[in-house]
Amino acid sequence: MTREIGSVIGGKEVPNGTAYDSINPAKVDEVVARVQLADAGTFSSACRTAAAAQKEWAAVPAPVRGRVIASIGRLVEANAEALARLVTREIGKPYAEALGEVREIIDTCDFFLGEGRRLYGQTVPSEMPDKNLFTFRVPVGVAAVITAGNFPVAVPSWYLVPALLSGNAVVWKPAEYAAASAEALYRLFAAAGLPEGVLNLVLADGQATFEGLETALGEGTVHKVGFTGSTEVGRRIGELCGRHLQSPCLELGGKNPMVVMPDADLDLAVEGALFAGFGTAGQRCTSLGTVIVHESVHDEFLDRYTRAVAEAVIGDPAGDVLCGPMLDHKFASRYEDYLGWIQPHHTVASGATGRITPDNARGDFSGEGGLYYHPVVVDGVRPDDRLFLEETFGPIVGVSTFTALDEAIELANRPGYGLSSSIYTTDPKSAFRFREGIGAGMVSVNNSTSGAEAHLPFGGNGKSGNGSRQSGVWVLDQFTRWQAMNWDYSGKLQKAQMDVAEVVPDLDFRL
Ligand code: UN1
Repeated sequence: MTREIGSVIGGKEVPNGTAYDSINPAKVDEVVARVQLADAGTFSSACRTAAAAQKEWAAVPAPVRGRVIASIGRLVEANAEALARLVTREIGKPYAEALGEVREIIDTCDFFLGEGRRLYGQTVPSEMPDKNLFTFRVPVGVAAVITAGNFPVAVPSWYLVPALLSGNAVVWKPAEYAAASAEALYRLFAAAGLPEGVLNLVLADGQATFEGLETALGEGTVHKVGFTGSTEVGRRIGELCGRHLQSPCLELGGKNPMVVMPDADLDLAVEGALFAGFGTAGQRCTSLGTVIVHESVHDEFLDRYTRAVAEAVIGDPAGDVLCGPMLDHKFASRYEDYLGWIQPHHTVASGATGRITPDNARGDFSGEGGLYYHPVVVDGVRPDDRLFLEETFGPIVGVSTFTALDEAIELANRPGYGLSSSIYTTDPKSAFRFREGIGAGMVSVNNSTSGAEAHLPFGGNGKSGNGSRQSGVWVLDQFTRWQAMNWDYSGKLQKAQMDVAEVVPDLDFRL
C-alpha cells in the first residue's frame, strides 16, 4: 500500500510540492510513500506558525505538558509493531532493531514525563538581607529540528520530546527517504493532543530547508536548531546559526574506534565488533569504524572476526537477520565510493565486496531487488589512509594494530571525530586510561560502540559535533535558557557588591 503524504503545518496538510518517492530498499520497485516536498517558503512559514503557537503552549503548566508526553509514550507503545514494521519497510532496518528503535522513543517519553514535574529552578542566597535570588528554566521558543533517516523515529524523539516538554514549539524536517516513518510518528504525537501549530512537520529537501531556515533565522522565528546528519552539512548549519548568534545542537558523523587489548576476551570483542560494524548495515553514527587491535592478538582476532562475519545472516530485514539493505539509493552509491578507498596495501579479509547480486551472491542469497551489500573487513589499514581517517557510512570495518596502549589511544583519536569509542580489556587500569585519553563523548568498556541508552548524555566532540549533548537531563540545556531573578523586599535600594555587610577578619593572626 502506497501512502500519499505531505507537510502538516498548524494542523493542516499542505498538499502541494515536488513529488518524491520513498522506496523500500529491500524491494526497490516498491514505493512506500509518495511524498510532496515543500519549498523554502513553506519551511519559513511553518516557523512563523510555530512562533505564533508557542506562547500559549509555554503557558500550559509543565506537569500538564508532561502528561502529554506520557500520552505520546502510551500511543507509541500501543502502535509499536505497526511503527516498527513501517520503519523496516521504509529504510530496511531489521525488524528486531526497528522494535528497539521504537522502544527508545518510549524510554525517552518515560524519562521526560516526570521531568514535567521537576524542571527545577533554584533558590539561591543573596549577599544582602531581605533579598532572594531564583533561577528559572525558560523555553527557547521555536526549535527547528532536522533529522537523518537511519534512526527515523528514535533520534527525532530525542529532540521533539524534551523540546515540547520544555514549552517550545517545533518545526521538524525529517529525511525525505524516511518520510513515511516520520509522518506516522508525527500523527502519534498529534493524537496525544498537542495544540495546533506546536508541532509542525515539513517534508522538504536539504536545499529548500537550508534556505527556509536562513529566512526564519533572519525573521527571528527560530531560536534553536537541532541537526543530526553529516559533518559537512553540520558545518554549514553551524556557520548559519553562528551568524545569528545561535549555537545549534549538532549530532554529526563518527569514526568510532574499538581498541582490543591483549588481555581482552576475544569472543566478546568479536561479538561486539560484529554488531557495531554490521548491525544497521553499518549505518549508525555510532557504528564501528576501525578495530585497533594489539599486534599479539591480531591474527587470532581477525580469524575469529572474519568467521563471524561469514556466518552472519544478510537478507530480508523483516526476518531474523544481522544486516538488511542500505537505507536508500543515495547511501548505496556513496558506499560504493568508500569501497574505492581500498588500496593495494590492504587485505580484504572478508572475501567478496560490492553489491550482492546473482553474479556476486552471498551463498544462497542473491540480493535480488534490494540494495544489499557484502560486509567488508579490511586488514592492514594505515593511519594515513582515507579508510582510517574518514567516516564510511556502511558495512565496512578497518583493522589496524598497535603495540602500547598510549599508541592505541593516539590512533583512536587521530581521525578527529569524537562520538563513540570502545575498549575491550580485563584490566581496569587500561579501561580508565583509555577513558581519560579518548576524545569521544561516549566510551564503552567491553561493549559495542553503538547502542547507547536513552538517558545518558549522547553527543560528540571534534568533527562529531559542537559539544552539545542530547538525552537525559543534559538535553534540557539545549531547549531552555536560564533566567536569573532577584527580589529585594528590604524596602530600600541595596546595591550589590557595595552595600554588603563585612565580617572583619584578623588576617595577622598566627598560631
Ligand atoms: C545515530 O545513529 O544517529 O547508540 C544514533 C546508538 C543508538 C543511537 C544511534 N542508540 O547506537
